[in-house]
Amino acid sequence: MDEELHRRDIVGVQDFVLLEDFKSPEAFLSNLAKRFQANLIYTYIGPVLVSINPYKTLDIYNDEVIKTYRNVNFYELPPHIFAIADAAYRSMRGENRDQCVLISGESGAGKTEASKKILQYVAATSTHSSDVERVKDRLLQSNPILEAFGNAKTNRNDNSSRFGKYMDIQFNFKGAPVGGHILNYLLEKSRVVHQATGERNFHIFYQLVRSGDQGRLSKYSLTGSPNDHFYLNQGESVEVESIDDRKDFQTVKNALDICDFSESHQDALFSIVASVIHLGDLEFQEDSGVAMVTDKEKVNTIAGLLGCEEEVLLSALHHRTIEAKGEKVKSPLNVDQCLYARDALAKGVYDRLFTWMVQRINISLQQRGKLKCNLMGLLDIYGFEIFQYNSFEQFCINYCNEKLQQLFIELTLKSEQEEYQREGIEWEPVQYFNNKIICDLVEAKPVGIIAILDEECLRPGEPSDQTFLDKLTQTIGSHPHYVSHVTADSATRKTISRDQFRLKHYAGDVTYNIKGFLDKNNNLLFRDLKAAMSATTNIITSQCFPKDELLSKKRPETAAAQFKTSLAQLMEILMSKEPAYVRCIKPNDFKRPAIFDEKIVNHQVKYLGLMENLRVRRAGFAYRRPYEVFFKRYKSLCPATWPNYPGPEKEGVQLLVNHLQYQDDDYRMGKTKLFIRFPRVLFATEDAFQARKHGLATTIQAKYRCFHQRKVYLKMRVSAIMVQCYWRRYAAIKERERRKRAVEIIRKFIKGFMYRKKPECDENREFIRYTKINYLERVKKEAPKTVLDKKWPAPPELLMETSDLLQKLAMRNLMLKYVKTISPSRKLQLQQKVVAENIFKGKKESYPYSVKDQFVDNRLAAHHESLRTSVFEATIKQADEKVLYCTGVTKFDRHGYKPRNRVMIVTDKTIYVLNDKDFKTKDKIPYALVKGIVLSSLTDGIFVIIVSTAENGSKGDLILQSDYVVEAVTKIAMAGNISSMIKISNNGNINHDMMSGKQGIIEFSKGNMYSVKKGKNGQLCVIAPPL
Ligand SMILES: Nc1ncnc2c1ncn2[C@@H]1O[C@H](COP(=O)(O)OP(=O)(O)OP(=O)(O)O)[C@@H](O)[C@H]1O
Ligand SMILES: [Mg+2]
Repeated sequence: MDEELHRRDIVGVQDFVLLEDFKSPEAFLSNLAKRFQANLIYTYIGPVLVSINPYKTLDIYNDEVIKTYRNVNFYELPPHIFAIADAAYRSMRGENRDQCVLISGESGAGKTEASKKILQYVAATSTHSSDVERVKDRLLQSNPILEAFGNAKTNRNDNSSRFGKYMDIQFNFKGAPVGGHILNYLLEKSRVVHQATGERNFHIFYQLVRSGDQGRLSKYSLTGSPNDHFYLNQGESVEVESIDDRKDFQTVKNALDICDFSESHQDALFSIVASVIHLGDLEFQEDSGVAMVTDKEKVNTIAGLLGCEEEVLLSALHHRTIEAKGEKVKSPLNVDQCLYARDALAKGVYDRLFTWMVQRINISLQQRGKLKCNLMGLLDIYGFEIFQYNSFEQFCINYCNEKLQQLFIELTLKSEQEEYQREGIEWEPVQYFNNKIICDLVEAKPVGIIAILDEECLRPGEPSDQTFLDKLTQTIGSHPHYVSHVTADSATRKTISRDQFRLKHYAGDVTYNIKGFLDKNNNLLFRDLKAAMSATTNIITSQCFPKDELLSKKRPETAAAQFKTSLAQLMEILMSKEPAYVRCIKPNDFKRPAIFDEKIVNHQVKYLGLMENLRVRRAGFAYRRPYEVFFKRYKSLCPATWPNYPGPEKEGVQLLVNHLQYQDDDYRMGKTKLFIRFPRVLFATEDAFQARKHGLATTIQAKYRCFHQRKVYLKMRVSAIMVQCYWRRYAAIKERERRKRAVEIIRKFIKGFMYRKKPECDENREFIRYTKINYLERVKKEAPKTVLDKKWPAPPELLMETSDLLQKLAMRNLMLKYVKTISPSRKLQLQQKVVAENIFKGKKESYPYSVKDQFVDNRLAAHHESLRTSVFEATIKQADEKVLYCTGVTKFDRHGYKPRNRVMIVTDKTIYVLNDKDFKTKDKIPYALVKGIVLSSLTDGIFVIIVSTAENGSKGDLILQSDYVVEAVTKIAMAGNISSMIKISNNGNINHDMMSGKQGIIEFSKGNMYSVKKGKNGQLCVIAPPL
């Protein structure tokens, strides 16, 4: 069928569906045996798990294995109880459907162990949080408590569950267990007072007696040895190899703590257990038909443990009060009746204690919030029982198994086949035995066994077990599944005694002994005992025997009717959920590993209906889902159907399967459902979906993130706009204030400007200040940097005077600065230039020409220098005389104006005119004699030194010409301090004294060429060119 799967089948086939000869029971058994011997205890029939009890510890339940099975498709890994748990868990989460795991099989087949493994898997798989951990702990710890009180060692199983248990685990939307609820069914309470050989009472009795704590033992008045107590030693098998009662007691104590049983509750609990033990040890003696307890001390102990008056208890044990015609009559009991009352009390107390405990556990498992949750139910109920001696309990247990088989048939065989027909799928019906007929035989009204039993119980007169049997035979004697001594054929009759009847159960024939049927069904506890119990101070017994029960006149429901009702409810619960099946098989009757007893196994295979199951499975389809469910889950796998398909779902599914390339044989299209034949096809589809889911999740995430981000963005945008608004408003206000201020300033400025010429007043004060500052700023920037720079910033009208003052000040400053920088020689030079300027500026045309050149002190040629030292310095110059200027000049004779080259030396006392050849003194004019120096206004170099004739004799004025006339005259003027005597003639003539007192005229005129010569008129004519 599937390559992968074949490869994984190491021993035999791991799914019976793969069995070649699937109709052969031998092949089935052989596969089971092969796998069992190889320690492969699990095998599938499609989705049903077949489990064989290995009776030894296998290392296949550790955390590693749990991890391996987590989130892996059912068929991907070898069969395992974890795979069932995982599939149920995932189906619950994925499809939001409540689940239930139905574990069936006979006593000792491993049902309880399987249910524990499922719980272990669920606890390890789901998410962790303190609340969840709390619930998980309690779910797990509820087991040791229930097992201690409800399990016992039987001949078939050292830890046989003597009650039925259905546990709902509640999961929140995250898949974490958040609560739980337990329903308990029909505790085998007869075990409290009687155990068959080789069996024990419920574990808790032995655990308490063997707890080892002396203090505790004396508190409960126990000896420490179970053999001392009648209720514990009847089976003569107190010791069990596989059980350590002392250790188990600690486990139970611990579990009670975890499940919120307070110290006082625990004490009350153990007091009851101890009191039941002591009840068993009560013995009675009869004296003239009236029985009495032999050892009152024991009654005292019991009364002490339960917290009631010893007398009341004694009286209740010794008497029975009967109400007749409104009168109460108290009659004493004989020994048998006393023993009956004692046992009834022990059973009643223990039974109610057990129910109270389940309720307590339910309180501790209660979900904290009241959120909607998904459920996973675990049904671990007693298996089919065929004993040597079968009583009312076996009848109930086997009835329960009939009902479960019915459910199995309903959900798998029958419903499956009906569904194929309903959906119009071609189908060849598989024959199977439908046990409905047996169910009806037991529960039908008014002719079912239970109905007849109830009727017999209620009937006035003297009903007895025997009358009940007679009634049965009378009413249903012809039923094919009922046989009694009377109705049996002669061969069978030998095997059925007169107090027995036989039912042909689906799992085999069981012969029931009718002894005690009526009594057990009546479930009666004498009124006196009930009253004694409701008056106890023990917090549990007083609660378990409420006072209103005594007041109620209504007859309590019979045990069988109660059981029938609770079973019907259980069926309803199970029908509402998606079931998963674990079919447990025990390999031998010896509780031993590695022994595969074919006969026993074959029997179980048969009555569990595994062969039929396999045949239906082989012929059928592994998976079916309504179109809308399938389509909804997988439509994302086909582009044509994703995200929406407008047509009907069936059409969509057709497109989908075509796209997924399903082969013709892989599937069928029913009327409302799609049927897939092979798991591999479904798993391939599921795998594709799982892979696709990531993509879809990413898209959804992306879309959501986009949506979310956009929301954030829009919010931010609004915020930004708001901030902007406020900021703009703030900025605008600022700007407005700025402009307002500016306008005020401008207005003030304009006003100031208009009032600028008025005396200082409020209107112009600011303006004037501004103008001043502004002008000063300008002056600072534009003030001349050198003395020659004559620019000056134009002042506003207002500051004319200031400007002048400032300019002068600045100029003076500049000059001062300048003056500070010039050398003495330069200073002298400038002084000379100033003198020259005073004398000549604007008067003589050649003056501007002289300005640019420096005045020098000595213009003598080199050859004159030696003469100057040798002659002039040595012979002419006086010692205290200082030479100030030397230059070559042309002297014009005072008669005839003949030019002669001469040297002029100016000292601080005298002007010397020397012969340029020998430096002989030609003229020597001390300044005192100088009356003036006259020059023309033209560009010529003539200067006439007017000499006082009186002093000079008759020589007349000295007519000299120098190329550096301005320099020479300035030097003389300064040397003789005679600047004021220097005249510039601007009338074109200079008159001078000639030799011997005559007057001469020098005529100046402008011409092209410079010439100085005597004119025809005897005058000296000077022609000066323009500059
Ligand atoms: N998977 C297993 N691995 C090892 N031992 C197992 C396994 N299943 C069952 N057993 C052994 O078999 C014994 C009986 O199993 P269990 O109590 O589960 O039977 P049961 O079907 O609940 O019987 P009952 O109907 O009497 O309660 C266990 O105590 C244990 O020793
Ligand atoms: Mg069990």
